[in-house]
Amino acid sequence: MEKRWWQEAVVYQIYCKSFCDSNGDGIGDIRGVISKLPMIKDLGVDCIWFNPLYKSPMVDNGYDISDYEDIEPAYGTMDDFKELLDKAHSMGIRVIMDLVLNHTSDEHKWFKESRKSKDNPYRNFYYWRPAKPDGKEPNNWGNYFYEGRGSAWEFDEQTGEYYLHNYSYRMPDLNWEYEPLREAMYKMMRFWLDMGIDGFRLDAVNRLKKPEGLPDSQKPPTPPVGIHGYVVDRTICANVPGIHELLREIARNTWDNYDVMTVGETGQVTADMAPDFVGADNHELNMIFHFELGKNAKIITPKIYKETQKRWFTVTEHNGWEAQFLSNHDTPRQVSRFGNDGEYRVESAKLLATLTHTFPGTPFVYQGEEIGMTNVYFDSIDDYDERYTVGKYYTAVEAGADPEETLKMLQPLSRDNVRTPYQWNDSENAGFTTGKPWIKVNPRYKEINLEADLKSKDSIFEYYKKIIKMRKNCPAMVDGKLDFYMFDHESMLVYTRSCARQTLLIIANYSDNPVKIEIPEELKSKNFTRILSNREETSPSLLKEREEWLPWETEIYELTTN
Ligand code: NOJ
Repeated sequence: MEKRWWQEAVVYQIYCKSFCDSNGDGIGDIRGVISKLPMIKDLGVDCIWFNPLYKSPMVDNGYDISDYEDIEPAYGTMDDFKELLDKAHSMGIRVIMDLVLNHTSDEHKWFKESRKSKDNPYRNFYYWRPAKPDGKEPNNWGNYFYEGRGSAWEFDEQTGEYYLHNYSYRMPDLNWEYEPLREAMYKMMRFWLDMGIDGFRLDAVNRLKKPEGLPDSQKPPTPPVGIHGYVVDRTICANVPGIHELLREIARNTWDNYDVMTVGETGQVTADMAPDFVGADNHELNMIFHFELGKNAKIITPKIYKETQKRWFTVTEHNGWEAQFLSNHDTPRQVSRFGNDGEYRVESAKLLATLTHTFPGTPFVYQGEEIGMTNVYFDSIDDYDERYTVGKYYTAVEAGADPEETLKMLQPLSRDNVRTPYQWNDSENAGFTTGKPWIKVNPRYKEINLEADLKSKDSIFEYYKKIIKMRKNCPAMVDGKLDFYMFDHESMLVYTRSCARQTLLIIANYSDNPVKIEIPEELKSKNFTRILSNREETSPSLLKEREEWLPWETEIYELTTN
């Protein structure tokens, strides 16, 4: 079947605030991105996904939008954005925007209006409810933001009612049951689509529909325990009946009428639910980010990784499409979390790249992973910025936890691990800004930076370039069926991707130790030629001569017929 452009594409995610600062105010900006377009082009990606660039008070770094049709002044102007879009397009790079439909900022004009009076025309754009007869919040839901306020309801003096906020109290939830809200959102989305953007990454999009009558959760938030603060039921607003009808209505009114891509962020979605969201004829989303590999520092063994890939391929093979990623702006750095950010940083960064690019679906690269950027461990909570980390810290410490221990446990989980400035070179502030960066630079920038990486014969960036380019010439990477060999092996991944025109064999030693294996005869007897390796100089290139794989070694072979 004819492929759509987003199936063949590789997407590069830019967290603008930390990418490149052009004006010395310490905050990355659009002109900074424009200046780096040649580097993005050189990497070979086809599309950029921007984290929110809209006007925002930055309570949650842009996921709290105060004007959907304007650009955040710290990032630049609408003219800067249009210039970026034009330049990117002229270089053959598409642009997708992050879109937050679940909530706005409390500084959005709709919310400011809505809180004025109970009969304000914007009142129903949000969820307003009176207190229960006993004076308590309208229900027992907790918010996800650990701001010392457990409830998902905030009382507003002006009208004596509560409003719903699943995230921060500064980010009220929108009411998608209300038609005028839906119409306003469709108009706003068409504004961007008509401008010529190439699609959307849709934030928390399976949470737009709330359960009928907003009933109590069976699992009310627990009181603060350890670093986890209190545990909140995140399932209550996820995948609520009616969500698919709503997504189809949104699609019909917006993206279905344009040649664009959509990728939904959908926590609490398991593989069996995927076809409902991404089924080829569903007219909902093209692909989704699932979190079956966990959102935080949970250890993922190679076996869990293989099982997850198999499960998702089985359900999407003939109906839908996958998104492949190992990190984004909400996770730790992938080389620290899944790889080895010490002795084998370079090898493991390349191995992880190989996995993302050779398992089925569209690969997403998060800024900095292409140079093997690592987690950061700040020694004071004051150096952390993101709400979850700071909120969890104070919730735990106020509940009696040891401050040092709490910090130590939060460090590997913090979303700030991926939000420190891009490391361009070894000059002050890693070449990110001439001013004071909004968040500290990772102290490893002297050793890990783009300039140094490009000078190295083991360049990670160059490896990414090769594998991204390979996707253009290897139909099996896009189209191939996935088959595993030695599936139960605890650290080796051996799998093929095959389509009518090509068969690729991928071998990866996902561990810190050398591993000996017997490659199955059905593979060994065939004519496989190595086309990519992260250990070119140290290991033989003929499959039949291979017995041992070095730590984090990875290779791609192609089946040749002569
Ligand atoms: C998911 C986004 O990726 C995250 O950064 C944000 O905090 C929440 N949604 C709320 O919008």
